Amino acid sequence: MAKTLAAIKGVGAYVPTNVLTNADLEKIVDTTDEWITTRTGIKQRHILNEKGKATSDLGVEAVKILLEQTGLKPDDIDLLICGTVTADMVFPDTANTILDKLGTNKGFGFDINAACSGFLFALNVGAKFIETNTYKNVVVVGADMMSSIVDYTDRTTCVIFGDGAGAVLLQADTDGYGILDSELRGDGSGRQFLHMKAGGSLKPASCETVEAKEHFVYQEGKSVFKAAVNGMITSINEVLNRNNLSPNDIRWVVPHQANMRIINSVADGMKIPIDQVMVNIQNYGNTTSGTLPLCLFDYRDQLKKGDLIVLTAFGGGFTWGSTLIKWAY
Ligand code: UT7
Repeated sequence: MAKTLAAIKGVGAYVPTNVLTNADLEKIVDTTDEWITTRTGIKQRHILNEKGKATSDLGVEAVKILLEQTGLKPDDIDLLICGTVTADMVFPDTANTILDKLGTNKGFGFDINAACSGFLFALNVGAKFIETNTYKNVVVVGADMMSSIVDYTDRTTCVIFGDGAGAVLLQADTDGYGILDSELRGDGSGRQFLHMKAGGSLKPASCETVEAKEHFVYQEGKSVFKAAVNGMITSINEVLNRNNLSPNDIRWVVPHQANMRIINSVADGMKIPIDQVMVNIQNYGNTTSGTLPLCLFDYRDQLKKGDLIVLTAFGGGFTWGSTLIKWAY
C-alpha cells in the first residue's frame, strides 16, 4: 500500500492593518532607517493595536482565509495546533480559543511553544496525526503578537519584531506529495541568550518584575545570530544528505525571517541563489511563529505541484530544524 504523507493543501495568512515603519521607530527610539535596513532588512512591521484583540484573533483571520480557500467549514477541523510564544493567556491554550472564535467545538486543539521554530514543530506534530490516518483535516497555525512582549524603549529588539499569523491545512496524500523528512533539534543551554525573564513559574509576575522590565523579550543578538546561521545550514544539509539530494534539487528554501543577513548567510552557505529563497522580512519583520506560513502565503502563486521546498527555522530554546516537502498543489 502507498505510504500516507501529510500534504499541505492550503495556506492562509493575516497581518493587522496598522503599520509601524522605520521612520515611525526613529521617533520612538535612538535608531535610523539606514541602521535597521542594512542590519536587518526590515522596512516595516504590522502591529495589532486594537484593545481586546490578541494572538488568537490573528490566528482566526488566517484560518478564515485558509477555510475559504479550501472550501472547508470550521466544523471540519479535527485538530488545530497553534505555534506561539504569545498565547492570549498563560493558560488556557490559544488553539482552542481560535476554534471557539471560529464557532466550532467539534475538534480539539493545543499550543506548541518552540519560539521561532513553533510553526515548524507544530507542522511536524500535526503531520503525525495525518500519517497515522488518525485525523482527516489538521490545521497548523503559527501566530504571534510580538508587540505584546516587546519593549518599545529597547532599540535592540523593538525594531525587529512584528505581529502576524499564518495557517496551513494538512491532509493525507498517497501519491508521494507532502512532508518527506525533517531534522528537528533543540539545545536548552541556548535559553540564556533568548528568553523572557519573568511571568513563568521561575519568576512569577510581581511589582518588581514589572519595574525591572522583565516581561519583555531578552536577546543577546550576536550569539543568537551565529547559532541561527549554523543551525539552519546544518539541519538543511542533514535533510538533503539523508534524501540523496543536493541544493540544486531544491526549488525554494523557506527560511525563518529574523534578519536578512541571516537569510543571506544561509543562502550563501547552501550555495542557493537568493532568488530561490522566500523573503518577505521587509514587510513584516520577525513575526516569530508566523514567518514560515506568511512566506508560503505570499509566494503561493509561484509554488507548483512537485516543487521540492525546504522550510527552515531557528529560535529561542534554542530550537531549530528543517523540513523537506514535495509541494502538493
Ligand atoms: O528569531 C529568533 C532568533 N533571533 C534572531 O535570529 C536574531 C539574531 N540577531 C540579530 O538579528 C542581530 O544580532 C541584531 C539585529 C539583533 C543586532 O544586530 P548586530 O549587527 O548584531 O548589532 P549589535 O548588537 O552588534 O550592535 C551593533 C551596534 C551597537 O552599538 P555599539 O555598541 O557598537 O556602539 C548597538 O548598540 O548597533 C547598536 N544598535 C543600534 N543602533 C541603531 C543596536 N540596535 C540598534 C538600532 N539602531 N536599532
